[in-house]
Amino acid sequence: MSARDKIERLQQLFPGSVTETQDPETGQVTLRVAPEQLHTALQAALGDAYCSAEKTMLTQVESYAFTWPGKTAARQQATAPVSVQFQPRPDLSKDPETTSNQLIIGDNLAALKLLREGSGTDSLAGKVRLIYIDPPYNTGNAFIYPDNFRESLRSYTARKPKTTDPEGQKAFDDDADHHGRIHADWLSFMLPRLIVARDLLREDGCIVISIDEHELPNLWKLCEEVFGAENFVECMVYDKKSSAKGVPPTKMIAGVHEYMLVFQRSSAFSFIGRPRSEEGFYNPDNDPRGPWRNTNCKSTVKDPREAFDVEDPATGRRFRDVWAFSPAEMARKAAAGELLFPKADGGQVRMKEYFNAFRNANIPIKSSWGLYDAQYNTQYLTRLMGTKVFLNPKHIRLMRDLLAYTTQGNDIVLDFFGGSGTTADALLSLNAEDGHQRRFVLVQLDVPVEPSSAAGKAGYTTIADLCRDRINRAGAALNPAEAHPNWDGNVGYRVLDLGPPTPVDLKVD
Ligand SMILES: C[S@@+](CC[C@H](N)C(=O)[O-])C[C@H]1O[C@@H](n2cnc3c(N)ncnc32)[C@H](O)[C@@H]1O
Repeated sequence: MSARDKIERLQQLFPGSVTETQDPETGQVTLRVAPEQLHTALQAALGDAYCSAEKTMLTQVESYAFTWPGKTAARQQATAPVSVQFQPRPDLSKDPETTSNQLIIGDNLAALKLLREGSGTDSLAGKVRLIYIDPPYNTGNAFIYPDNFRESLRSYTARKPKTTDPEGQKAFDDDADHHGRIHADWLSFMLPRLIVARDLLREDGCIVISIDEHELPNLWKLCEEVFGAENFVECMVYDKKSSAKGVPPTKMIAGVHEYMLVFQRSSAFSFIGRPRSEEGFYNPDNDPRGPWRNTNCKSTVKDPREAFDVEDPATGRRFRDVWAFSPAEMARKAAAGELLFPKADGGQVRMKEYFNAFRNANIPIKSSWGLYDAQYNTQYLTRLMGTKVFLNPKHIRLMRDLLAYTTQGNDIVLDFFGGSGTTADALLSLNAEDGHQRRFVLVQLDVPVEPSSAAGKAGYTTIADLCRDRINRAGAALNPAEAHPNWDGNVGYRVLDLGPPTPVDLKVD
């Protein structure tokens, strides 16, 4: 095995442990092992089994690093043993014998580890096609789920490793370090979860993470570390509102968009894209080759000296231009009736482009997804649930689009911040529409809802309870008569309960 092969293998096993350097003169790119990142990746992958807990000589050198107080402990959580077990709850499940959909009630870190091990259920290691998560955005607001990882200055400075100057004086300024306090706990919460989640992805799978500007920069760096910078695919955006109305502007600008960050497990991943639409193709002349559209056949790149004549077989008139096709191909098109000749001299020759001529049935999606109007979603959910029961659920159409662009067949979709269950709802209705058999695994903490909230007033006691009811309603709302002929009608799910989270499972430092 060559050195390069070995380094590439290292990169696959321990993403982020290899960097690329480019010779400024020759431009040649060389792969090199990055000692500190390798040390970090070994720790992440092997945990306690990795003997070097202390930083080695190799890591003493000054280097580019992304770190925060509590990071090492957070990493260790990815390999720490789990203190809970899955308890099957047939009483809360729907048709558990005939489905592999799962709703896990409990802390997602423990759940991810059990799913990786296959403890109490089939192992999902290397089996998940899409992981979608919508974690707390760390906006500083306390919603009905904890979304505030901003710890008090006192507890943060007590925990932060003391940096001292040569005289032994404390060398950092608490105020200047305000940033760390805001973000450290959120990062420590996310890191072990992402490390374990990566192990569940198929080689051709990806993770898509919803986020806003509060943690996007940190999340991006974190994902580069966990998945490898070379596995970044895209930072997609979509609009939540069509206008700035109701959005408090800052600096005369109103933020109306959110992000979905995409990292792949390996280069084997690709978006499926979306089906090519026949929109814009017509067949007014009953052309036996099917619907067509009127399109340009001139070249925009060729040299003007490459111009030649094309003859209209019906009239014998000749048209000279620089064509996008060879003389033989233009003559063939003319004879076959595929060229659209102008009625008058001086007009443009155009051509028929046939829908059936496209070999790829799908077209690439764009990174900007456009508008997913919150009003539509509120109406949809109110119809389904009877009232508005969850603050800021993801848009049902957004989730359906994401599932359609990334999954098919019997792909497994994992969402370990389940919330109100939008992912499961979208998956069930998309399967009914396109006849695929995707399966969901959702994890949702058993967070109690405020009795005074809309969810509380509607009779729900926990978010997991609400999520389960939404899945039931979404399944019941599907009409077999309108479904795809291949639809298997599977709207069941098995509930696995982890019991109340223990302090160990929820510990973030
Ligand atoms: C932003 S919400 C997700 C909303 C969801 N996408 C929807 O459309 O309804 C995040 C959810 O993650 C849950 N959550 C937070 N920490 C968790 C944990 N450690 N384990 C499992 N769920 C957790 C919260 O209770 C909350 O319901």
